[in-house]
Amino acid sequence: MAGRCLHAGRPLRTLETPVTLEATPLQSRPDEAPSRIVVLNPKGGSGKTTIATNLASHYAVQGLKPTLMDFDPQGSSWRWVRKRGEDAPPIHGIAAFERNSRVTRSFALRIPPDCQRVVVDTPAALVAQSMPDLTRQATAILVPVLPSDIDIHAATQCISNLLLVAKISRSEQRIGVIANRVKRNTLVYGSLMRFLETLRIPVVATLRDSQSYIRAAESGLGIFEMKSAQADEDVAEWASLIEWLGRRQATADGGNSLVRAAAVAQRASVP
Ligand SMILES: Nc1ncnc2c1ncn2[C@@H]1O[C@H](COP(=O)(O)OP(=O)(O)OP(=O)(O)O)[C@@H](O)[C@H]1O
Ligand SMILES: [Mg+2]
Repeated sequence: MAGRCLHAGRPLRTLETPVTLEATPLQSRPDEAPSRIVVLNPKGGSGKTTIATNLASHYAVQGLKPTLMDFDPQGSSWRWVRKRGEDAPPIHGIAAFERNSRVTRSFALRIPPDCQRVVVDTPAALVAQSMPDLTRQATAILVPVLPSDIDIHAATQCISNLLLVAKISRSEQRIGVIANRVKRNTLVYGSLMRFLETLRIPVVATLRDSQSYIRAAESGLGIFEMKSAQADEDVAEWASLIEWLGRRQATADGGNSLVRAAAVAQRASVP
């Protein structure tokens, strides 16, 4: 089956290009690449799709023309983009889970040139071996974790694979944990927060269990696009995450400027 792209609920075109988890440069030059945020945790139901779709909604409202790339064969993010109305701020959807035996084109050709943010939703049960390729070009990797013993155990394995298999160093500060569906003042919430402290990975947001996410998703919206006092409380909880991602973006932009400066210097030194 061919990979598909759509834009704000409207199919734009059908591409015969397959999508794989193999290394996929977003643009031919790193200094031109849009920021890529990967939402990842092999534990099912931890909130990957909820975080990915709401983050895409936030960037859409900001006018950053985000692309939402869905690697999960369940296609939940892809369906969410398709539900969006014509007048909703545009999000370009890519059904990255659809594969085709003819591997000929990279994602670079599929991401619209005006896209400034790529949000990647990943499937449950993702094998550790897929993590290096998925995370290589990521500005940030978000790991949602639920407050339960089973999820805490699974998160330990996930973080350990990111550090040891994907070889992401803590010092790069690219990994952020999101405590999701929390009910504050519960024992298990306390256990989750103590556990997260031991990981030495920043907790970049704590999101409560809220019906706003479910209501918004029903119409292909994010909480940033809802007009209700209840959603306002949820939006406020995203402030720390948005701020952290902004700092990650600034760091990545700084790195790219250095790469550009080095390339200019190298060109200048060639006789
Ligand atoms: N903060 C939240 N408050 C209330 N419900 C939530 C919250 N986060 C996620 N959910 C709900 O929990 C369920 C699982 O969330 P979601 O689909 O985002 O997880 P997932 O990690 O993508 O799952 P999968 O591994 O199957 O892809 C969904 O019904 C979603 O609406
Ligand atoms: Mg999902």
